[in-house]
Amino acid sequence: MSVTVVILAAGEGKRMRSSLPKVLHPLCGKPLVHHVVETAKRLKPDAILAVVGSRKEAVLQALPEGVEAVDQGLPRGTGHAMMRVAEEHPRLGGTVVVLSGDVPLVTAGTLRAMLAHHRRRRAALTLATAVLEHPDAYGRIVRDASGAFLGIREASDAPREILRIPEVNAGIYVMDWGRLRPLLATLRPANRQREYYLTDLASRALGGGMRVEPYILRDPREMLGVNTRNDLANLHRILYAVRASELMERGVTVLDPASTFVDPGCSVGRDTILYPNVHLRGARIGRGCVIYPGNIVEDSTVGAGTILNPNNWIEGARIGKACRVGPMSHLRPGTVLGDGVRVGNFVETKKARLGRGTKAAHLTYLGDAEIGRGANIGCGTITCNYDGRQKHVTVIGDGAFIGSDCQLVAPVKVGRGAYTASGTTVTEDVPPGALAVGRARQRNIPGWVKRKRGQ
Ligand code: UD1
Ligand code: CA
Repeated sequence: MSVTVVILAAGEGKRMRSSLPKVLHPLCGKPLVHHVVETAKRLKPDAILAVVGSRKEAVLQALPEGVEAVDQGLPRGTGHAMMRVAEEHPRLGGTVVVLSGDVPLVTAGTLRAMLAHHRRRRAALTLATAVLEHPDAYGRIVRDASGAFLGIREASDAPREILRIPEVNAGIYVMDWGRLRPLLATLRPANRQREYYLTDLASRALGGGMRVEPYILRDPREMLGVNTRNDLANLHRILYAVRASELMERGVTVLDPASTFVDPGCSVGRDTILYPNVHLRGARIGRGCVIYPGNIVEDSTVGAGTILNPNNWIEGARIGKACRVGPMSHLRPGTVLGDGVRVGNFVETKKARLGRGTKAAHLTYLGDAEIGRGANIGCGTITCNYDGRQKHVTVIGDGAFIGSDCQLVAPVKVGRGAYTASGTTVTEDVPPGALAVGRARQRNIPGWVKRKRGQ
């Protein structure tokens, strides 16, 4: 039996009060709709359709590969969205799974269980429900005294006794398209929002003698939707808490899960300690590391046993084992640190390779630099890599010693084991083993202060 997934993503998202379409708001580093598309792909369906409408150009551009768009035009409700799917895909059949672009936590496992339930019961419609402590604005599941399902009532149209019902509609449906499709034409926008509600299909199907199966979610968090910025914050809290607890199960110490922000797709090795206020995006952290507060690590790898002192921004970097970084360092893309390297306090690197055991411990800028092993880069060193038009490379050999406050005017090479005297502006290559001194000689003028200032 063929399976098609339809993702509803045409709504306006008024309650977000945003110029960004709701389904493009990022959740843990990815647009909401990407979370849903990734889950849909795990079902290996025959097709994934996304209904777009409001600010569709932006949504279309952001849709991942393998998703076909259906243009809803002016969105007139979730029922109208599915009418447009029926119009655009007249030959659609089999099973249709309907998901919402703003309900991102539903898992493929849950959808598979729903599909199995749907087939076992030969249902025309299976709809996910959950019992919530705060059912707020969700549609309510109405049942009779014996618990048999009767229909869904939208909160905005519901009287008080209906609003007291804690069981809500998750907005996740499995449909036997052949049987439900003809019912779409019977929907009417006879409600306060003047919209075609997809939810009205449930009572229509019952009325037509079809089987409708509410499917109660085991984890009600899977159905949480994003309608407001508060909802978005809530989902961030949930996803980050889930990530933190997964990490802890794998042997990572997380001091405060509520303030640890590890995006999906990151990995952290066993016995690593994450202090509060650490943000990891696209990061791979080895075993036994210590990540102190205030580190933001993006698209980078960190080797085992490395210590990230407080407050570093690390982007596009490869950091070896047993390194020490920071405090207050900015490692920019193209930074490669060998094992045992020490970088920071207050050091910026960009396209810089530092060989094993090299130290740049204070107030330094290293850009477009190739630095060997065991070199010492003194406090306040600057690679002058930019001449206003082009970037140039500085090469520093193994074991070289760059005195404090040197400028290296690239392109320039400092040979193996060479020294540069403190305060030198290096404009010419320094041969291996040589000392470069390039600074004005000091003069002391005796008695100057008394003569000049009369003191
Ligand atoms: C909907 C359900 C509600 C359920 C809730 C679960 C209806 C009428 N109500 O309410 O019972 O509890 O989801 O999250 O379905 N969309 C379109 N085209 C439209 C309107 C909406 O594609 O014309 C999309 C939206 O982009 C969104 C999804 O459908 O992704 C749901 O729409 P939304 O307006 O957020 O519905 P809710 O009020 O949350
Ligand atoms: Ca919604």
